Amino acid sequence: MRAIVTRPGAGRAWLTEVAEPVLANADDVLVEMLHVGVCGTDRHVMSFPMRSGRSLPVGDDFLVIGHEAVGRILKAGDGVHSLRVGDVVVPTVRRGCGACPACNVGQADLCFTGNARERGIVGLHGFLSERIVEREEHLLRVPDELVPVAPLVESLCTPEKALRRIANARAHLPVGGTLSGVERALVTGSGPIALLAVLALRLRGIETCAVARQSAGGQAAGLVERCGATYISLQEVDLEQPRERLGAFDAIIEATGAVELSVAMLAALAPNGVLDLVGGPPERKAVPIHASVLGAMVGRNLTLLGSVNANADDWLAGVRDLQQMRVAYPGVVEELITHRYGMGDAEVAFERLPGQIKAVISIT
Ligand code: BGC
Repeated sequence: MRAIVTRPGAGRAWLTEVAEPVLANADDVLVEMLHVGVCGTDRHVMSFPMRSGRSLPVGDDFLVIGHEAVGRILKAGDGVHSLRVGDVVVPTVRRGCGACPACNVGQADLCFTGNARERGIVGLHGFLSERIVEREEHLLRVPDELVPVAPLVESLCTPEKALRRIANARAHLPVGGTLSGVERALVTGSGPIALLAVLALRLRGIETCAVARQSAGGQAAGLVERCGATYISLQEVDLEQPRERLGAFDAIIEATGAVELSVAMLAALAPNGVLDLVGGPPERKAVPIHASVLGAMVGRNLTLLGSVNANADDWLAGVRDLQQMRVAYPGVVEELITHRYGMGDAEVAFERLPGQIKAVISIT
């Protein structure tokens, strides 16, 4: 069957023939892949060699790329009870290390050893192939009408986890309401994770502001404003004093991975505020932190978090919220997918193009 594969460090992905996957366990499910999203992590996997011994699936010298997927069940093993042939499913990404307390209870997003594997990213083949086999427990059923946009469920489970962690970090506060009393929130960035974070916050009725490099009046600003949030171009913000233009926020989701911005945004937190970093910094460099920023962390009881991957509840929240977003903000979710490709477009589909939010490769 056809698959798009790469080698960490190869700098590109290409279409090739790989062996058909086979059902090996009673709870295995054969899935025909429909659409797979492209993400920055794919480009990272292709561009950089990974740690030795962990990068490629055992026995193979290539990696089937792709981890944001939707497919339809073709066949299910005798031990599969919750899914049926014909169901539309989204596969989750991370598989536990088998050796730590978090992975042992199905919370591989919190892996203690760092040895969890991820389909299409590290140690396990991904989803950009005509068919995959996956265990029942790693497949989420989604409604048929979500098929065209369902690769976004994977992107959305990152902000869902961020919202859960922000609420947890504020759970001790003597305030009630949504996300433990978050009234004003900020999202930095204009990629799919940032925009889905804005949508998820607006769905919860929270006053939300988005800050990104693009100028006001552009594509990101338009999408943000259509869901009732405010867009402010980064050009208008003094990173030394972000509160002057933006005001203060109870919660901030930093989705650019730009380290200067991550540090600067600490100064935009209100008392008891929480900043969650969800964008991995692409560069290896040091940034200075002014002592007053750390002083404010103490003086205002601030929390700095980092979040990766997602647990089962976050995935379910992603499926539920994606459906609600389509109703609440008509067309916005669909417009996040700006580029669509076929399997033959492997050489171009991973390029980062101007005006691109999410690119999706269709398999069939
Ligand atoms: C994926 C996550 C993954 C993370 C780290 C992200 O792009 O969405 O599922 O855990 O990369 O590899």
